[in-house]
Amino acid sequence: MAIDGYMSGFGNEFATEAVAGALPEGQNSPQRVPYGLYAEQLSGTAFTAPRRENRRSWLYRLRPSSSHGSFRPLPEGQLRSGPFTETPTTPNRLRWNPLPRPTQPTDFIEGLVTFGGNGSPSQGMGVGIHQYVANRSMTDTVFYNADGELLIVPQAGRLRLVTEMGVLGLSPGEIGVVPRGVRFRAELPDGAASGYICENYGALFRIPDLGPIGANGLANPRDFLTPVAAYEDVDRPTRVVQKFQGRLWAAELDHSPLDVVAWHGNLVPYKYDLSRFNTIGTVSFDHPDPSIFTVITSPSDSPGVANCDFVIFPPRWMVAENTFRPPWFHRNIMSEFMGLVHGAYDAKAEGFTPGGASLHNCMSGHGPDRETYERAVAVNLAPHKIADTLAFMFETRWVIAPTRFAMETPALQRDYDACWSNFPKARLPGTGSETKR
Ligand SMILES: [Fe+2]
Repeated sequence: MAIDGYMSGFGNEFATEAVAGALPEGQNSPQRVPYGLYAEQLSGTAFTAPRRENRRSWLYRLRPSSSHGSFRPLPEGQLRSGPFTETPTTPNRLRWNPLPRPTQPTDFIEGLVTFGGNGSPSQGMGVGIHQYVANRSMTDTVFYNADGELLIVPQAGRLRLVTEMGVLGLSPGEIGVVPRGVRFRAELPDGAASGYICENYGALFRIPDLGPIGANGLANPRDFLTPVAAYEDVDRPTRVVQKFQGRLWAAELDHSPLDVVAWHGNLVPYKYDLSRFNTIGTVSFDHPDPSIFTVITSPSDSPGVANCDFVIFPPRWMVAENTFRPPWFHRNIMSEFMGLVHGAYDAKAEGFTPGGASLHNCMSGHGPDRETYERAVAVNLAPHKIADTLAFMFETRWVIAPTRFAMETPALQRDYDACWSNFPKARLPGTGSETKR
């Protein structure tokens, strides 16, 4: 089904052509491709990956993407990559204010700032966590990431990602995923844009299994949108920038490589409107673990232990009886990086602002601040809607090591621990302050 330039579904075998008759029928690599197009397979998994995991697409293009000269290194700015060893990893809880807008002309790639990560691209596991702050569109430059797929979470300003496989329009409240290797140009229809990126070095994101939830719910496959084929026939110098093993490299072409006229397959860029998420929660007491809010997940080799979960905290009704309704106090073997697209997060009354971020690593105690706690234990538990909110979490099985930038930026809140200070001690009946044995 096509929806305004998109096809719907997750993991489908899509087929699309921008010019009638460009897509070969019945085979992938005929002796002569229609119109003299070049056939190319883009493999996102090993050839022999199990069918359930296997993703690849066939692209039919004006020129083979092998037509380029040598790549040479570029300065990497604030972009960092695993292994994250710039600075000793602190056990402290961290929170950041939004990054300032750039003062110089800065495009999507130039505006990447890495906050931390784990694993490494060379090992094919872990994530890099970035923010982008940009104020100009990429022109005559395209980018691809050889180190992983990019999960993009816009926070302010729209993005128009002109990819090899079609045009992905993203607004705050939506997410986009660009597969490893797929080249794209990021344009800024609003003149400026900022947001968050999870660079996934590991297994490709997919929608989670639902278990007892059943056949429907959470993120439903039909709400994921993949662009129809669109190409540009541009003979003009174009710089191709790639991220490879943590560094940026550039090569010059005499044409735009966004020249795929038709394609088919299941390795695709896609977007998802987070307001379509079918939020499930308790209708009795105690809220479920936040894994109930998983939109997409990158599994690791251990069943149920994610390389990375992308989890959201969207508007929802709170109806639980006799329940502490905010997120409870928590220490977690998994590590949690959070961001806020808009509104307020229900565990923090203050200090966590849209565009900001927080990091609670393995076994760091976290939870509601004192003000939120006191309100929650006193409130009348009528049904209540948490409206105007969209927080999210990148949750990963490995500790997220912050970059030097993340530890030294003025955006780091030096007093974050204070939000959990001064909780009064619980009082047992008939006791003073001494320890009883
Ligand atoms: Fe937590």
